[in-house]
Parts: sequence; structure tokens; C-alpha cells
Amino acid sequence: MNFKVEIAKKINTLVDMEFDKVMELIEIPPQTNMGDYAFPCFQLARVMRKSPNMIAAEIAGKVQADSIVEKAEAVGGYVNFFINKKEYIRIMIQEILEKGEKFGSSEEGKDKNVIVEFSSVNVAKPFHVGHLFNTILGSALEKVFRHSGYNTIRINHLGDWGTQFGKLISAHKRWINEEALEKEPISELFRIYVKFHEEAEKDPALEDEARAYFKKLEEGDSEVTILWQRFKDLSLREFSEIYEMLNVEFDSYAGESFYSDKMDEVVQILREKKLLKDSNGAKIVDLEQFSIPPIMILKSDGATIYATRDLAAAIYRKRTYDFYKNIYVVGGTQSLHFNQIFSTLGLMGFEWSKDCVHIGHGLVKFADKKLSTRKGDVVFAKDVMNEAVHKTMEVIEHKNPNLENKEEVARKVGMGALLYTFLKNNREKDVVFTWEDALNFDGDSGPYVQYTYVRGRSILQKAGYVPDTADLTFLSTEDEFQLVKLLGAFKDSVKEAVERYEPFVVVRHVTEIAKAYNKFYNTHPILNADENVKNARLQLTKAVGIVIKTGLSLAGIETPDNM
Ligand code: ARG
Repeated sequence: MNFKVEIAKKINTLVDMEFDKVMELIEIPPQTNMGDYAFPCFQLARVMRKSPNMIAAEIAGKVQADSIVEKAEAVGGYVNFFINKKEYIRIMIQEILEKGEKFGSSEEGKDKNVIVEFSSVNVAKPFHVGHLFNTILGSALEKVFRHSGYNTIRINHLGDWGTQFGKLISAHKRWINEEALEKEPISELFRIYVKFHEEAEKDPALEDEARAYFKKLEEGDSEVTILWQRFKDLSLREFSEIYEMLNVEFDSYAGESFYSDKMDEVVQILREKKLLKDSNGAKIVDLEQFSIPPIMILKSDGATIYATRDLAAAIYRKRTYDFYKNIYVVGGTQSLHFNQIFSTLGLMGFEWSKDCVHIGHGLVKFADKKLSTRKGDVVFAKDVMNEAVHKTMEVIEHKNPNLENKEEVARKVGMGALLYTFLKNNREKDVVFTWEDALNFDGDSGPYVQYTYVRGRSILQKAGYVPDTADLTFLSTEDEFQLVKLLGAFKDSVKEAVERYEPFVVVRHVTEIAKAYNKFYNTHPILNADENVKNARLQLTKAVGIVIKTGLSLAGIETPDNM
């Protein structure tokens, strides 16, 4: 049951305006004493040639109290609707208890395939905190789409092709430490990669050698292919440990190398459409009509590049998945690249290029000096994750040394603190990371919301039961009504997260729920209340737990049973 829809239906019978238009106009008043929904009469005033105040008064006068609306008041050109609190509370709590973790889900995306590309890390290169932000954001975005009924496909577009692999092969032949490679593959591969660049400055012939190796790789030479495959396997072994900690999975790891044999077609189409232009021996597509710089397709030596592979990938994805949306979660610094890719696809005649979306995000910065460097400028995701769990363990040892399953709780809470930090603000904003904020149990933090969940759970445990049925009219205080309203609005926040490609909307919302529940808990007895009130409040507590757990899980955050 959706109260807004029901109110819109009422208005629709009273005035000459289409239902959809009414829905669009209905607002949420800024203050709770102004009701729960407000209908502005200014548009009608123009058509009806009457003052908004008069129209509002007429509408309000005709609204009769029923199971949906308690009363309607005309104020300053608006009709303020006060919903029937008792009915609302009853319907919402029943719905939450019935649906459980499916609460807030919908069929909006039924039969629509949505690709969410995220993480897209580079083989043989560090998985740094920028990738961590990206992975957390992308995974959460995929989850809110899935909760809304879309059929999602998670793609990790691995950076596993390109001239850098020629360099790595050349460096491997010269400087590899096999033991280190087995133990810490990425550190070792990164070390020789950096060394290659240093040495190549002194001896430019190295660059030619690297180019020759990449050419061999492109031609499928078995010796270099075996080496390349090994780099890839070793890297993925390390990445998968990170994905496991993050509870992240992919449906496809088709990365850049996957498209190495699919680019001829791209070049051919561009040629046929007369879009390829010569530029100092290289081939480019002019994008002046979009007021952006040209995109390079082939280098002067005929080699394809990153962008060529992205064109091939988009075409492949359309054919394979017939996507409704093809979402690229990639840092904001690549927005020009995607603008070029999508524009080029449009010029190639693919009308579906409009369904490709680049979802950018900010950078990760550290306020804590200590973390800001290790080997150059990269901060490794693994280090930050381990530190989060470690620091949480310290807090537990200090506050609650006898806790059961300490390790597991430290993992859930430490990782929760991290995930929350990356998802608490809109994605374009840079994340400024401090341990103090991330692990602040009282503020806007993962642990704060998790703790609220644990508190509710322990109340239910102390009670020893949750009644199957309760008379919910005993939830009669304003605090309870406001709390239930927040629970009901959870559905809207999932919808908004999808529409704006912003999972933080859901994270914010469960934080508001946690705050409202804590306020309620601090001012109203639960276990010591009269039987009827107690039963109703136990049901309310259970419903709060369900919504918090669901909301956190959409962010990839687990809920511990105790902490
Ligand atoms: N591997 C790239 C990087 O780490 C990101 C790839 C983005 N995805 C794409 N389809 N171009 O910067």
C-alpha cells in the first residue's frame, strides 16, 4: 500500500488534473506539523482563474477522514494531508514483517538487463584505494538495481592488455625474483615495472624490445603468452582475496585482452562510415561537432589502444546482453574518455549509445599522514582493509574483551566501517579518510548503524519472543509514528538511489532510521512497558532490524549478531 498514491487518487477525483501530474506535484512538507503530504494549488490557480488559497480550501473542505487520511488543511495555497497514523503504522509494520529482507524491493526493472561494470583493475598493478572506492561503489550500485528487479550483469573489465605487458615481459626476463613473485606477485611485478622505466631512460633500446614482445603477444606466440597468463593468474589470486573480504562477485572478467581479436570489425565500420581520419600516421575520429578532442583508434604503427577496445567491448555487450543500460563505474578523471567513446558509438550508428552511462566518482584522500605513502604514492587497498579490521579488534579488546567470535565481529565491523565511509556521501565528492570518523561508534558511521541493529536484536533476545500478532494501535506516540514513516520511506530511498545512481541515499536513510530508533529507545520503555505496548514495540523493533539489515546489505555491509 502506498499512501501517496492513495492521496493522489483522492485529489484526482476532486480536481481536473491527470493522476500522473498530481503524483508529480505532491510534496513532502518541510515540517511534521504541516502534515505528511502537501498538494500545491498554484498550477490549478492559473487554469481555474481562482486564488491558490481558495482552491486549497475547497479541496480541503471536501476531503473526508477515512483509513488513509485523518484530516486535510489548507495553508498558503497548499492542501496539507495528515495521513491516518494508526492505519499507516499497522500496514507498514505488517508489510515489513511479511516481506523480510525483500522489503523495499520492486519489479520496476523486470526483464531489463543492466550491465554494471566496476572495479576493472589492472593486472600486475597495485589494487589501490581508488580501485577500492570504485569497487565498493559499483557493487552497491549493482545491488540497488538488483533490489529494484533489474537483471544485473557484473563485469570486471580487467586491464590485461596493452604495451605495458611487453615491458613486463622484458623486465621479467631481466630482473624477476621468482620467490618474491610467488609470495607477493603484485609487489614484485610492480617493482620490475618501475625498474623497467628507470632503465629505459638510460637505454631507450629497451622500449623497442618491449614493443617487440607485445607484438609477439598479439600474434599469440606461445612463450610470451604463457608468461602473460601467469602474470594474470597471480594477480587475480591477489585480487580475489580482496573481493572476498568485500563480499564482491562478478559474472564476467572479460577485460581488455578479451577484445584483442574483436577490434578489426570496429576499424572496418569506422572505415565504411568514412569516420577514420589520418593524423600524423595515426587514425582518429574527429569529434569536433561534440566540442571534444578527437579520439585515437590506431597508433601510427597500426596498434590498437584502450579506446579501441572499449568500442569493441560496448558492441560485444550489446550483442551478448542486449542491455537496457550499460553502466561504467569508473573514476571521474575518465569522463572525457567515455564521452568520446559514447559519441563515437553514436556516429557509428548505434542508437543504443544513449543507454551507455559513465558513473564517475571522486578521489580518495587521507587525513592521517601515516597512511599516505608506501612505495610511491599508492595506498594499497589490502593495507587499509587489514588496518580497519585490526583497529576494530583493538576497540573490541578494550571495550568488550569477553565477546564471542571476536574475529568475525572485528571483520564485519571493521569492513563495515570502511564501506560506510566510501558510501556515506554522494559519489562525486572526494573521500577524506580518517580512522577517527570511520570507527566513531557514535557518529555517522558503519559501527553506529550496526550497533543499533545489535541493540534491537538483544532486546528481542531478552524478551525471549516476538509476538506473531500485536495490536499496533498501541504505537501511539509521535516518535513511533515518525520512526515508522522512515521505515516506510525506505522503498523511496531505494528508488531514488537507482534513479540517481547514488547508493549513498540508502546508506543515509538507514542512518536516519538508526538515529530515530535510538531516540525512541532512549525515551520509551520496551521490555518494561504494559503487555500490549510491549508486544507492539517488539514488533516495531523487529521491523527496524529488518530494514537496517536490508539497507546495510545493499551497501555490502554485514550485520553482526553481537558486538
Ligand atoms: N583499468 C582502468 C583503470 O584502472 C579502468 C577501466 C575502466 N573501464 C573501461 N571500460 N574503460 O584505470
